[in-house]
Amino acid sequence: MLYEIFERVLSLEAAGRRIVKMNVGEPTEDIHPEILECMIKAIRSGKVRYTSSKGMVKLRREIAAVHGVNEDNIVITPGSKWGMYASIRVLLRDGGDVMVFAPFWPAYSLMVADMGKHLEIVDLSFSGSSWMLDFNKLAESLNRNIKLLILNSPNNPTSTMIKYDELKKLTEFLDEFNIVVVADEAYIDLSFIKVKSLMELTSRCVVVRSFSKLFSMTGLRIGYVVADREVANAIAKYNSATITCIPEFIQEAALKALELRDEIAKYMVKRYRVRAEIAYNILTEAGFKVAKPEAGFYIFPKVNVDSNNFSLKLLEDEGIAVVPGSSFGGFNDFIRISLTVDNKSLTESLRRLVRYYERFR
Ligand SMILES: Cc1ncc(COP(=O)(O)O)c(C=O)c1O
Repeated sequence: MLYEIFERVLSLEAAGRRIVKMNVGEPTEDIHPEILECMIKAIRSGKVRYTSSKGMVKLRREIAAVHGVNEDNIVITPGSKWGMYASIRVLLRDGGDVMVFAPFWPAYSLMVADMGKHLEIVDLSFSGSSWMLDFNKLAESLNRNIKLLILNSPNNPTSTMIKYDELKKLTEFLDEFNIVVVADEAYIDLSFIKVKSLMELTSRCVVVRSFSKLFSMTGLRIGYVVADREVANAIAKYNSATITCIPEFIQEAALKALELRDEIAKYMVKRYRVRAEIAYNILTEAGFKVAKPEAGFYIFPKVNVDSNNFSLKLLEDEGIAVVPGSSFGGFNDFIRISLTVDNKSLTESLRRLVRYYERFR
């Protein structure tokens, strides 16, 4: 449904309708002018040739410093999506299936299906105000063929995080069963609360990060993987066999982005935290059960209606686009709202959504 809504928005816009696009998963902020300038300069100075499949050394060195590892542990990828795909592929070279906690970003099921693997889905429990790991369910779902867990914290679509104690217990549990974790940390730099990378808890993990979300660099397609040297090299081989390398001028832009990271993070976190507050207050005052976002730019309230039908009707009748929860692993009584519109439009659109929902029920 995520892609269906996306296409319907495009066709309504083509027909002249104004749509409030709270369905998209990308920030609408402009790319920082210094990043843009750096990239244009790089193009003008001829940085448009093939480069190393693993990524430019100076960029890998900067990233390695952020994570306290060696540059050999870093491989630059065309977006974190490719980083996730390549990591899973490399780690499952000798066979095995994948486990994921739901709700989850739908790309994972596409990736795992493409590799001909089974995706074991373990639902998180929703208390009405938080999402929690159920270790009994986890133990019941485990089988000997599961070799890898995809862990997305902060999560798309809930924008919540797995708490430190739970994470610690989880890593201990997984260690016992020799399960390696691929940690999708695409939203970690947009956290509203203090957070630790999974790397600080276990060495049995590969961490995947993105330049898309924090730096509004979605279309530039750049991310990276932090892994042991052997896995990083194997991913670089995939790069070599497919895309050859990430364009040099985009890697230059990423280097500049890292330089501006603190400044941009401060600005973006403040902006999205305010929007999360606005959305959370409107929705809870209207009686929705919802977890308070702790990062990123989504909110995932529970709706007591068929969310596929509701989302389609909301789009047609009110021109408001959201994504039904069924897109995230079968949560048909939830909707994902992206907080990627300005505060005024967010307030106004959510009030309209609430009124529409009350009539719709
Ligand atoms: C959880 C999650 N991981 C990864 C990505 C992909 O980001 P990138 O643009 O780096 O491929 C997204 C994008 O929506 C996402 O939601």
